[in-house]
Amino acid sequence: MSNENSKLPEEIVEYQLEKYALELETDGLTIVPPEVTGISEEFIDACVEVLLAKFTEMTGCPISLANGPEAELEWPEGENNLLAGAGAPDPTQMLIQQLLQVDRHFRDLCVNPVVDALINLMMGELSFPSGRGIYSRAKNRRLSSTNSFIKWQGDYGYGENLGLHCDQGANPLPWGHTALTANATWCLTDYTEEDGALAYVPGSHKSNAHPGPTARNQAVPAVCPKGSVIVWPGSTWHGAYPKKTPGLRLNAVAYYRHQAVLPQENLSVTMKNEPWSDCDNPDLLKELIGFDDKFPYLEQTQSIPKVAAAS
Ligand SMILES: [Fe+2]
Repeated sequence: MSNENSKLPEEIVEYQLEKYALELETDGLTIVPPEVTGISEEFIDACVEVLLAKFTEMTGCPISLANGPEAELEWPEGENNLLAGAGAPDPTQMLIQQLLQVDRHFRDLCVNPVVDALINLMMGELSFPSGRGIYSRAKNRRLSSTNSFIKWQGDYGYGENLGLHCDQGANPLPWGHTALTANATWCLTDYTEEDGALAYVPGSHKSNAHPGPTARNQAVPAVCPKGSVIVWPGSTWHGAYPKKTPGLRLNAVAYYRHQAVLPQENLSVTMKNEPWSDCDNPDLLKELIGFDDKFPYLEQTQSIPKVAAAS
């Protein structure tokens, strides 16, 4: 397929991502294998090591891929479950947030050109007047947050309905074709239903609506080997299966937003004094964080006229 004959962005053609672009269009989710993203097994293993050490640093609890947490955990009083609601059992999952600050490996994942091309495809570009009749174009995708879900064995999942939801659900309906948020979940362990994989409803993004009560019956697991990345727009219905097997299900999630959407983490503030430029593509990460965005501003940005000097 030549770019001249299609409206696909150049980089989709350049990286031969037409198959994944088509799956995003038809199924509302695609799984890209490591041989396409160029992520090595050593890289994934290094991510795992960093996350296990970070978990122990944060909780005081040793942890291993084979066994999960190696001591009993006690959760703080209050609401600890993301989606299961009050009265649910203690979670068997912990979220490590602000991955961009944790290690360069996660910054490198966020500037992976293959994933960036797919996210850009879903969020598109903005054309805006830049003076004297000249129009500039800018890509809409920005990072919203970066997290790792550390998930271990337990009946706790997101409940009977698998916690099916749309990530862009906070945005008012009706939604259009442009993704308002998007998710790139890098699988650091194999994803199977028994191991607590992501659940999703193929084609659900076309409804442009929240999941109904029977959505659970249409859900399927996103099954893939370690090193794959699962990509989907914020309109796709998704949740997760409980982890029935011993050990850990690990991921690193790059969560994106359209530039018109509020971020989960205020990255242009939190990353200001962090080593954001220490990554494979500092210019791209700078753009994704939104360091040069006009909004939201922190001070007066428009010119101020002054009383003219007396002539
Ligand atoms: Fe979600």
